[in-house]
Amino acid sequence: MAKAGEYSKIGDILAGKHTGKKVKIRGWVHRQRTSGGLAFVVMRDATGVLQCAVKKDAVDEKDWKDATNVFVESSAECEGIVKEDKRAPGGFELGVSGFNAIFIGEAFPIAKDQSVEFLLDTRHLWLRSQRLTNILKGRDYITRYLRQFFFEHDFFECTPPIITRSACEGGATLFKLDYFGDMAYLSQSGQMYGEVFSFSLGNIFILAPSFRAEPSRTIRHLAEYWHLEPEMAFYSQKMNMELQEDMIEFVCQKMAKEHPDILQAAGRDPNDLLMVKAPFPRIDYGKAIEMLQEKGLKIEYGQDMGADEEAELTKDTKIPIFVHNHPKAFKAFYMREDKSKPGTVLSNDLLAPQGHGEIIGGSERIWEHDELMARVKEQNLPEKEYQWYLDLRRYGSVPHAGFGLGIERLVKWMLNLDHIRDAIPFPRTINRAYP
Ligand code: 4AD
Repeated sequence: MAKAGEYSKIGDILAGKHTGKKVKIRGWVHRQRTSGGLAFVVMRDATGVLQCAVKKDAVDEKDWKDATNVFVESSAECEGIVKEDKRAPGGFELGVSGFNAIFIGEAFPIAKDQSVEFLLDTRHLWLRSQRLTNILKGRDYITRYLRQFFFEHDFFECTPPIITRSACEGGATLFKLDYFGDMAYLSQSGQMYGEVFSFSLGNIFILAPSFRAEPSRTIRHLAEYWHLEPEMAFYSQKMNMELQEDMIEFVCQKMAKEHPDILQAAGRDPNDLLMVKAPFPRIDYGKAIEMLQEKGLKIEYGQDMGADEEAELTKDTKIPIFVHNHPKAFKAFYMREDKSKPGTVLSNDLLAPQGHGEIIGGSERIWEHDELMARVKEQNLPEKEYQWYLDLRRYGSVPHAGFGLGIERLVKWMLNLDHIRDAIPFPRTINRAYP
């Protein structure tokens, strides 16, 4: 076998970098068709697909046999001269002088028109499809740009534990774990540990999986999702929201300018993301409820918004909107009360446009010990398990704030996907933990 460097990337060939030259490529068979003494093998690698024309009388007998025996998803390598050819997909064709089947394999089980469930059962193979390959790339670039944003702003990346005994977001969605005969949970959020790190490093972010035993089947809930959670010492709600909008603007601009092809292939017009610029509108929760009531929705002050309400608020918007200052009653125990608007907390949700809905939840945290202890008691939380968290308010506490962004929610919106399951390679939902 030749060394990696001896192989050209199909993407470079399609970009015209090797026209007229002899190259070697390797990858998987996307399509194959033979007609008389001519075989067309469309090859794919991570960077694109290329038509390879194999003429019976231009190659050895063994090579001709390989080129005519391979089928969808066989692996192969071939060499030949790159020619421009308007009729070929992508505008280029390889005139093959050598073809070697690496592994012919069995008939690929995925053909056209398969059911959603079948494609989820064969996810480990379906991830090779052009559509999911494109989404995997999009997801990678989006997370890269998020990291880039935080590194450019001097944040440190930290890693929280995944097994924990202190619930962050309430008991309803906890996955319980037998921890050597004791009870523990899978983390719902790294936030509480993020607060520890921020009292050490100032500005930090976490990118880790979070787990929610969500009993609902919706297009935006997963049981396991990737959670980006920045936490900043000495930050107010105002600074927190400004950071969120700057981050979203940055990642949208980067994707639109550097990877419009990925966006277009996924079904998102890059111009939609070019329009995403800070500042984003800020709507007080109370005002949002009034707007919804005026539109005829049955929601009262004090109720949490669901997908329908969020869709109504964002269906005609072009950029994300903040809804802030939610009633204390249904928000998490750690959120700080807004002393200027008693009964509400210094919280914000960020809702993505065109009905995609909530992608971020953030807040200023309670930083005084007695106030936090009162909330722990009010919500009947087991004090013992929160002792370490309360400790942060006993030694050198400072005002601080942070937020959590669901990576799959962001990917769903940015790539304009219908369902969150395509924003993650192996979706975990109420009825699926396979493959
Ligand atoms: O609003 P949530 O529950 O907030 C927290 O967990 C905070 N502790 C975050 C923080 O301040 N550090 O979740 C934050 C975000 C949501 O806005 C949503 O994007 C995503 O996490 N999320 C989910 N994504 C997919 N599936 C689920 N079941 C999700 N639950 C929340």
